[in-house]
Amino acid sequence: MPIHSKPNYWILETDSTAYSLGVNSHGLLTHAYWGKRLPSQNDYPETPVMVNWESFNNAAHLTPEEYPAYTGMKYVEPDILVTFPDGVRDLVLHFEDAELQAGEKPELHVHLRDDHYPVQLTLHYRVHEAQDLIERWVSIHNLGGDPVMIERIFSALWHLPPGQDYFLSHLTGNWNDEMHLRRELLTYGSKILESRRLTTSHQHNSWFVIDHGNVDEDHGEVWFGVLAWSGNWKLTAEVTDYAATRLHQGLNDWDFAWRLNQGETFTTPSSLAGYTPDGFSSASQKLHDYAREHVLPHGKMLNKVLYNSWEATFFFVEEESQARLAEMAASIGVELFVVDDGWFHKRDNDWTGLGDWWPDEEKFPHGLAPLIQKVNSLGMDFGLWIEPEMVNPDSDLYRAYPDWVIHFPTRQRSEGRNQLILNLARQNVRDYLIEKIDHLLSEYNIRFIKWDMNRHVSEPGFMDSPGDPREIWVRYVQGVYSVWRELARRHPEVVWQSCSGGGGRADFGILQLADQIWVSDNTDAIARLSIQEGFSRVFPANTMEAWVTDAGKDILPLSFRFHASMCGVLGIGGNLMLWSPDDIAEAAKWIDTYKDIRHIIQLGDLYRLRCVSHDNCPAIQYVSKDQAESVLFAFRTYMPEPYRLSPIYLRGLIPEAMYNVEGCATPRTGAAWMHDGLQIDLNNFQSTLRLIKRVE
Ligand code: GLA
Repeated sequence: MPIHSKPNYWILETDSTAYSLGVNSHGLLTHAYWGKRLPSQNDYPETPVMVNWESFNNAAHLTPEEYPAYTGMKYVEPDILVTFPDGVRDLVLHFEDAELQAGEKPELHVHLRDDHYPVQLTLHYRVHEAQDLIERWVSIHNLGGDPVMIERIFSALWHLPPGQDYFLSHLTGNWNDEMHLRRELLTYGSKILESRRLTTSHQHNSWFVIDHGNVDEDHGEVWFGVLAWSGNWKLTAEVTDYAATRLHQGLNDWDFAWRLNQGETFTTPSSLAGYTPDGFSSASQKLHDYAREHVLPHGKMLNKVLYNSWEATFFFVEEESQARLAEMAASIGVELFVVDDGWFHKRDNDWTGLGDWWPDEEKFPHGLAPLIQKVNSLGMDFGLWIEPEMVNPDSDLYRAYPDWVIHFPTRQRSEGRNQLILNLARQNVRDYLIEKIDHLLSEYNIRFIKWDMNRHVSEPGFMDSPGDPREIWVRYVQGVYSVWRELARRHPEVVWQSCSGGGGRADFGILQLADQIWVSDNTDAIARLSIQEGFSRVFPANTMEAWVTDAGKDILPLSFRFHASMCGVLGIGGNLMLWSPDDIAEAAKWIDTYKDIRHIIQLGDLYRLRCVSHDNCPAIQYVSKDQAESVLFAFRTYMPEPYRLSPIYLRGLIPEAMYNVEGCATPRTGAAWMHDGLQIDLNNFQSTLRLIKRVE
């Protein structure tokens, strides 16, 4: 069992790391250690005991509490704030007891209790040994008669080893331009990253990495984590007045409240974090492995090459044009044909139809069956786009139930892309969606759903909420999860993709339901290299849907566009009707190649050899888990001449084993490819794909 317990002290060990906590002699649950696993259990430090050393520096303020509540003389960030029925806003938590739970993923539950009010708080820890991750979440239980208002309840506080000058890496972006890496020095005070948009957002992602400087892709200590949640979230990176660096992660407390009634329990989403001494690529690999092993609904399933109609036909999808596209798609080796937006009742543009989830009577006079049969007869699966959470005011659904949307009754309802958001916190809304989508999935042979969400919230009212109206922020997301989970339960054959105008809902919460994420609406391959690189810091390649489209075709050769998309789950989104016979033949060749190597890309270890964030000649390598096969992609965007490219140093090979690198005359040892490297010369806007194979 990787959780060791001594009296009032616990050590959580993974394969290479350890995390320890305990109750100090003042009775406070205190963080003790997080980092490299040490040889002996006796190596881990005792729980720190701080003393007041003058009236402004109290023990409570200085102690690295595992989960500080708002009480006493401390001015660091608390992780929980509550108001008791009598108006008292002071939560005094004392250690009650702890239990260990054995199993494949061992757990520790530490119970804390207020010494006056009937409230119990439990800190939960789950150990993911092989991925070196600790999962944390919190539950609060009201054992009394009157409601307690929760105003903040984070999932975890992660303490960094004492010291300062830590750097925080995080991802920022926008619609059409997601996932750009930022790295900045944390200085005294707090840095807040968050979403207030009801969903994860394109703007920030809850992923973080902390390092101590002198770190690169392959070397150096990093601490990293994610929040498994698809709604408003908050990350506070705090450097206290005595240079303690701490990261609080959880539900956003902005405009948040939850009324916890008698006997009720509120449980937070999970925060997962890990440590590695081996740099940024290693941190990514651990998250990738975790996603594939423990999160994705279909785990290590290889994703199919899909065709998506959006950029080719936009809203003009009808039986004939889609059937023609399907024939073209099948001829180049596509395995899954997806009809995007435009197929449902009166959906001729983005002003109408959302909410009315049945085939448009004019575009599909005989329903979807003839098209699906055609697609199936061509040897492909059929998939469909939906946007369940939304409604256009011009729809039958809205005309019948105008009060189903999120709104304040006295205020105008702001529209985004001419649509409003259905309040999935409401049972009747959830029932409607389950019924309509279940009907579609039952009637038709649909194997893939792209679930979209194309606007963020406004006027977040929920006047007939069963609790506090501000519970909408959490209840909505729980509602999305429950509708999705129920549909997935009824239709286990369906593969789901999470899209929110591209990568607006990319997180470890949604990955419990969706095997893939549509990373960005920006399909220009140059833009994609950067967006995909940011994405790869968090999510594995088998979740990264990437289409080859016509974007950038005047500058970028088809091979470049294919190579960029082959770095994830290859899809095609260009208008095949306009592709030349040469393009069609080349596309067929690349799809064929991809099918041969996708197991390495989708399931292997990813190494960012040269990052697009600081090199116009990025290179990415994927290595199979047995280290016998590998794929290298290298790209050159634009660099004025004269320019001599530096060698590419491969990673992840067995040093003593011999490997052949496609395009290189003689096999060499893994050590040679990794330390002497290989020279690849590329012109502007050229790229290459090299297969690497162990030969002995
Ligand atoms: C969003 C998606 C696109 C496409 C359109 C359809 O923008 O990200 O891929 O599905 O909606 O309206």
